Amino acid sequence: MKIVLIGYMGSGKSTIGRLLAECIGLPFCDLDAYISKALGADIPEIFKEKGEVFFRRNETKLLKQVLTEQNGLVLATGGGTPCYGNNMEVLLENADRVIYLRVALQELVERLAPEKEQRPLLQPLRSEDLPEFIAKHLFERNTYYTRAHIVVDGTAKRPDTIVREIRVLL
Ligand code: S3P
Repeated sequence: MKIVLIGYMGSGKSTIGRLLAECIGLPFCDLDAYISKALGADIPEIFKEKGEVFFRRNETKLLKQVLTEQNGLVLATGGGTPCYGNNMEVLLENADRVIYLRVALQELVERLAPEKEQRPLLQPLRSEDLPEFIAKHLFERNTYYTRAHIVVDGTAKRPDTIVREIRVLL
């Protein structure tokens, strides 16, 4: 069984994915970590040294690779993964379940504000511009995210509660 978690930065894809994988006995893969390992650099470094286009090209290539080389897994994607090229089609065709982990805007802003400097897409923004940027960005990305097979609301919930809700829906 291949299960993929998608959702905006800070929505908890990696935390929930790791927990879910442990509960159902599947290997867990974090796409950002997989990309970092394959390219020998961390994500902020890749953006800084090679640029976003290079990152997106490799993200698409490595997404296909990870989905075909594994028979069963829980995969946490990056926030932008479903929104570029034909990645969302690739996900829907190759995964048994694509799950959108939805978190309300206000909570995303609260989670992301303290992490701004470590996130290449948010780092150049002024702190006061963050809420408006995230609101617009999330609105644009929702077109992709809402094509998921399952939408789970993670707003104001503990990780174990979210995992329990997902398990009922699998
Ligand atoms: C990105 C999200 C990040 C990472 C990269 C780009 C995005 O992953 O892939 O910085 O475009 O939203 P997380 O969602 O795991 O933070």
